[in-house]
Amino acid sequence: MSKIVIGNWKMNGLKSSVATFRKIVRGYSPERAAKARLALCPPATLLAEFAMLAAEKRCEKNLAKNPENNPENNPSVLLGGQSCHFEPAGSFTGSVSAAMLHDAGASLTLVGHAERRAQGEDDEQINAQLLQALEANLTPVLCVGERQAERAQRQEHLERQLTRALASLPPSLARVSHLIVAYEPVWAIGSGTMPSTAEIEAVCRKIAEQTRSLVPSTTRLEVLYGGSVTPANAAEIVAATDGVLVGSASLEAENLLAIVDAA
Ligand code: 13P
Repeated sequence: MSKIVIGNWKMNGLKSSVATFRKIVRGYSPERAAKARLALCPPATLLAEFAMLAAEKRCEKNLAKNPENNPENNPSVLLGGQSCHFEPAGSFTGSVSAAMLHDAGASLTLVGHAERRAQGEDDEQINAQLLQALEANLTPVLCVGERQAERAQRQEHLERQLTRALASLPPSLARVSHLIVAYEPVWAIGSGTMPSTAEIEAVCRKIAEQTRSLVPSTTRLEVLYGGSVTPANAAEIVAATDGVLVGSASLEAENLLAIVDAA
């Protein structure tokens, strides 16, 4: 399976960022697509427009090659949400549901990002969000990671986060076809520091093992690393994992495409 690079724009991006997204879509050539799948999680306000641009590009490329081709066969940039609400709909002012993300063109969504947990999201809500994502046909990208003070008990901490987030999948969802887990140590996010590659590889292997035992029906599981990934360190990290979740380096088209090149 090819690697995956996911960009997380966090609370960055205005209408003027369409130009950056166009560069990303244009630069994501078939050669790059053969190296790695590329997904971007822009703010929810830009999701529908970006999804339309990605779809247009997919059609254009495809028609140029062979008018008979199905545009769906031509890989383009995938879109994702940054979080979704734990209820399907209702009186939750300011929130975005999983179905809304899907409707706007997302095919995946982050769940349980450290910056959401820091704003008060707890394990129970993250579990409910994950179920909402699956119900809406979005691939959940479950984010887990220890804070600096928890480094000594990292394994127990990660196991607890995974167990709680993946608890009690209802029978209708028992067969989860695709699940992504991102290991993002809180202390590595935006800090320029990160664990050694050997450590990242060992932690991701352990996360894969634990996730498989918690959700044995998953047919496709990918474990990514996130936290201070740049074009300079991406090759080593991608080689040791299934891919990367990238924050600030994903804001510039050149940097994001250079990370794909490193895959
Ligand atoms: P940075 O790449 O800016 O450290 O952010 C990582 C992250 O939080 C991605 O979700």
